[in-house]
Parts: sequence; structure tokens; C-alpha cells
Amino acid sequence: MSPAADLGRALCIITGASRGFGRALAQNVSRLVQPGSALVLVARSGPDLRTLQAELTESEAGRAGLKVEVVVADVGKAESLENIMRTCREAFCEDMDHVMLINNAASLGDVSKYVKDLSDMAQVDSYLSLNVSSALCLTARVLQAFPQHAGLRRSVVNVSSLCALQPFRSWGLYCTGKAAREMMFKVLAEEEPDLRVLSYSPGPLDTEMQLEARSKTADLSIKKTFSSMFAQGQLLTCEMSSARLMKVLLDDKFTSGDHVDVFDV
Ligand SMILES: NC(=O)c1ccc[n+]([C@@H]2O[C@H](COP(=O)([O-])OP(=O)(O)OC[C@H]3O[C@@H](n4cnc5c(N)ncnc54)[C@H](OP(=O)(O)O)[C@@H]3O)[C@@H](O)[C@H]2O)c1
Repeated sequence: MSPAADLGRALCIITGASRGFGRALAQNVSRLVQPGSALVLVARSGPDLRTLQAELTESEAGRAGLKVEVVVADVGKAESLENIMRTCREAFCEDMDHVMLINNAASLGDVSKYVKDLSDMAQVDSYLSLNVSSALCLTARVLQAFPQHAGLRRSVVNVSSLCALQPFRSWGLYCTGKAAREMMFKVLAEEEPDLRVLSYSPGPLDTEMQLEARSKTADLSIKKTFSSMFAQGQLLTCEMSSARLMKVLLDDKFTSGDHVDVFDV
């Protein structure tokens, strides 16, 4: 099967679109959807989202009819999901042939602590609420709002990490969250055969999350690994990694539920 030329006439929801990988994803997706598509971009930082909205609206895709909506919301809060869904329902048009959700928003958690230090249940709950529950519940709501019907393709991307598969000392919260998400999306893929579910590991990216990783990690050998990667210019750009994700989606050869790493593409 030859790769698709584009992502169709799509409604695409991207969480964590204000900066870093999510911002690059929004730019890439905007160039790969057909006129009449809509992007719903979610994050807490309104000014950053609106700057991106203006950039995309003025781009070639925007001039060709791409709608760009922003939702300023903390996805870790239950009430935010209703705001996101309201905007999604308003942005959806009956002639759209693809609904795509990219669960990208995440936090690193307190990497200055080892597992033995994580005794505060409220802190752990709050971490899991943003990094696991929000992705699960937003995905469920999108699937409910846009049920399967002939002519509609539905895709869900889980932005994952090597940390979903391998333990990293002092990254207990992050590894736990990414591992839980990975399994949740594998179960979803089993349950919904019509759905295309992908866990994509974007690799070490030059973003604020990386800066936090190399400055706050308690474990000295992990901290040193990330500092050296930065110093030796080994971090990937968000543009490069998001372009690889687009290639995986267009090629459409993955088994639903699979974990695909940027270095495998
Ligand atoms: N950077 C890496 O090396 C790396 C490696 C593997 C995987 N990843 C994964 O790639 C994804 C993107 O990471 P990144 O490096 O781009 O991180 P980043 O630079 O820290 O950006 C995170 C994004 O998530 C949003 N976000 C954070 N908390 C939020 C909340 N409560 N509600 C709504 N949005 C929220 C942020 O926007 P606001 O602050 O405006 O809300 C921002 O747009 C994450 O899933 C991360 O785990 C990153």
C-alpha cells in the first residue's frame, strides 16, 4: 500500500500545543490536512497558544481554509475536558473524514525525589491526574462524541517515551505515568478494532522538559547522561521528530497499539 498523501479533511486535537513537541506537531499537521480541516490546540498558556493560532491562520494552510481553535485549559482538571469537547463539537463538520487526537501534554514530575521519597499521596494523585487520567478520559470523550461510522477514520496518538519501557532512577512518577498510558492505549487498541492507536516515542528533544531533566534529576548518572547529550548536540529537534511521526501516520503500516520509537522510523 502506498503512503497517503495527507491526513484527510480532519479534526485534529493536540494537547500541550503551546510549546515544544506539541507546537511542532501543530505546525506539521497543519501542512498535512486538507482544506476545511480544523485544529483544536490545548494548553494552559493562552498567549503562546494564540501566537501559534495567528501563525497557522496566516500560513498557506490557514489561507486555504484551515480553522485553528485554541482552548486555554489545564488538562489535569476534570472541568477542562468539557471545554475541550465543546470546542471540538463546534469545530467538527459532517464532511470531515478523519478525527485525530494527539495526547501530548505531560509533565516530568518531581525528579528530585526517589520512589522512597514519594509519600505524599496528593502529589502522586495530582501527577497521575494530569499524566494518565486526563489522557484516558479525553480519549474516551472524543470516541464517544465522534462514534465510528462509514467514511470516518479515527486515530489516537499517545506521545510516549522510552520511560514507558525502561526504569530511570529518580523518575518514578514519569516512568509510572508513561507505562500506565502505554498499557491503557494497548487495551484500547484491542477493544476498538476500527481505531488506529499509536504510542510514539519522540526521542530526546531539545525542550523545556529536557532542561528540567538535566537540571533537577536526583540520580547523578541519569543527570549526567542528559547533560552530556545536550552538551554534545545529541538532542533532536521537535521539527525532525514530529515529521517522523507524520511519516508513521501517513505510511499507516503500524499495528494498532504498537510503540514506535523515532529511531525506528
Ligand atoms: N523532551 C523530551 O526529551 C521528551 C522525550 C520523550 C518524550 N517526551 C514527551 O513529549 C511530550 C512533549 O514534551 P515536551 O518536551 O515538548 O515538553 P514541554 O516542553 O514541557 O511542553 C509540554 C507541553 O504540555 C503542556 N502542558 C503541561 N502541563 C499541562 C496541563 N496541566 N494542561 C495542559 N497542558 C499542559 C505545556 O503547555 P502549558 O505549560 O502552556 O500548559 C506544553 O505545551 C510529552 O508527552 C513528553 O513526555 C519528551
